[in-house]
Amino acid sequence: MQGINFDFNNMFSFNVGPRHGVTYLELSRMSAAIDKAHRHLSSIIKNDHNRVSLGLEWVNLSFQDRKTVNKIQLLGREISRKFKNIIFLGIGGSFLGLKAAQDALLAPYYNEFSAQREGHPKIYFEGNNLDPDTLAALMRNLDPAKTFVVVISKSGETTETKAAFKIVEEWLKKGAGKNYGRQIIAITDPQSGSLRRYAQEKQKKDVLSFRSLPLLKGVGGRFSELNIGLLHLAIVGVNIREVLDGAKAMYKRCSRPGIFKNPAYMYAALQNILYRKKGKTIAIIMPFSETLKSTADWYVQLLAESLGKKYGRRIRVSSDGRETWEQDPGRIVNTGRTPVSARGTNDLHSIQQNNIEGRNDKTVTFIKVQNFQADIKIPGDDDVLGGRKLSELMHLAQEATAWALVISSRPNCTVIMPQVTPFCWGQLLFFFEMATAFEGELLNVNAFDQPGVESYKNYMYYKLGKPGLNAGIAHSIKSHPLRKKKKLII
Ligand code: PA5
Repeated sequence: MQGINFDFNNMFSFNVGPRHGVTYLELSRMSAAIDKAHRHLSSIIKNDHNRVSLGLEWVNLSFQDRKTVNKIQLLGREISRKFKNIIFLGIGGSFLGLKAAQDALLAPYYNEFSAQREGHPKIYFEGNNLDPDTLAALMRNLDPAKTFVVVISKSGETTETKAAFKIVEEWLKKGAGKNYGRQIIAITDPQSGSLRRYAQEKQKKDVLSFRSLPLLKGVGGRFSELNIGLLHLAIVGVNIREVLDGAKAMYKRCSRPGIFKNPAYMYAALQNILYRKKGKTIAIIMPFSETLKSTADWYVQLLAESLGKKYGRRIRVSSDGRETWEQDPGRIVNTGRTPVSARGTNDLHSIQQNNIEGRNDKTVTFIKVQNFQADIKIPGDDDVLGGRKLSELMHLAQEATAWALVISSRPNCTVIMPQVTPFCWGQLLFFFEMATAFEGELLNVNAFDQPGVESYKNYMYYKLGKPGLNAGIAHSIKSHPLRKKKKLII
């Protein structure tokens, strides 16, 4: 099967000049750091304990056994047959991968037209915000008796998902009768968290209620699409095996030591040089494809939460080779490129002006789709558009955008996808995941935690009076109130 390729010509000085592009010398000077990062990453991946405890078990998701995958596929088919609508509740890593798959792998306008759905249920995503308007509209319009709910929260404690779940559960209970629990699946930590405890209680009373699926240890939220997202794929009829095979094929390519053979390492190394040496702090990810926009949104979370870190990483290795990573309080780095998702060609009429003439502080990563699922010829012959195919214009627009960036000395690169198939999409996901992990190594930060996300949560918990909140957190919130001067609100 065809694979995706990575074209990085326009990241180099021979195209965008030495002030803004990478030189061969700069790349070769990084070879020791690249080797070290590769050796460290592969040693963790090979060590069962370290791989799980440090949060790198996602590298093995494509090797999930056939029995597990078949079970999920069967369950998905059963739900798909019985229900007209599915609501997925989740946020962050428990949402973005599913949404990315939904938009990339299903027919466009899936929910709108039954022919596009080919007998599968309509899909809705909620619990990824606290906006009452959308959830209220959904519950007003869906029939609870015909609706299945999949609640996804690894921790089981996330406010957005928990709140939405309580509301939706009540709605199901009222509208679907006493066996409403059979219309719920919880994907959550197998042992801990309030959602797990709640599901267990419910299961004791009725085994068909609150069924759940295996959530693998050592797979963090934003790296978990190929774990928590599989039921969604099965419900909508995507061949899970093909997605996993794509990820596996990319795993093989991205385990090689030499960067000229390893697209993920090359991507990470070039971005790292441009970030550290040429001030490219903004990462624009721009698929030239409507259906890949949500995959770009998924990458935004992956990059932002993995690499946007205050502290450097301190590694401790015990005599038996077990590693632990800590924040190094002596090394405040405030590092990480700022990701921005955009889509071609739509955003050529918006963000592109800034990309070309604004501060030269960005790299642009295009995703180019070589073959679209459909194509349309433009009718007429009275101007240059007549007789052209839309795909031809799309490719030309991407080439034109790359050219416009190059002549303005703006580095850019292109991930080339032969087609948006489950196989290629699986490759794409794994490519970005491995690139992010490798960039984390080059920056020497922990790419698998997200401590910065806690502060807003703690503030909310404090204001909501959540019991058991750490005294230090309460003290910090009390001693740093938000200050408001009336004259500064006009
Ligand atoms: O990458 C992560 O771990 C986070 O973005 C989580 O996915 C997100 O916070 C949701 O967490 P949970 O699945 O525990 O509700």
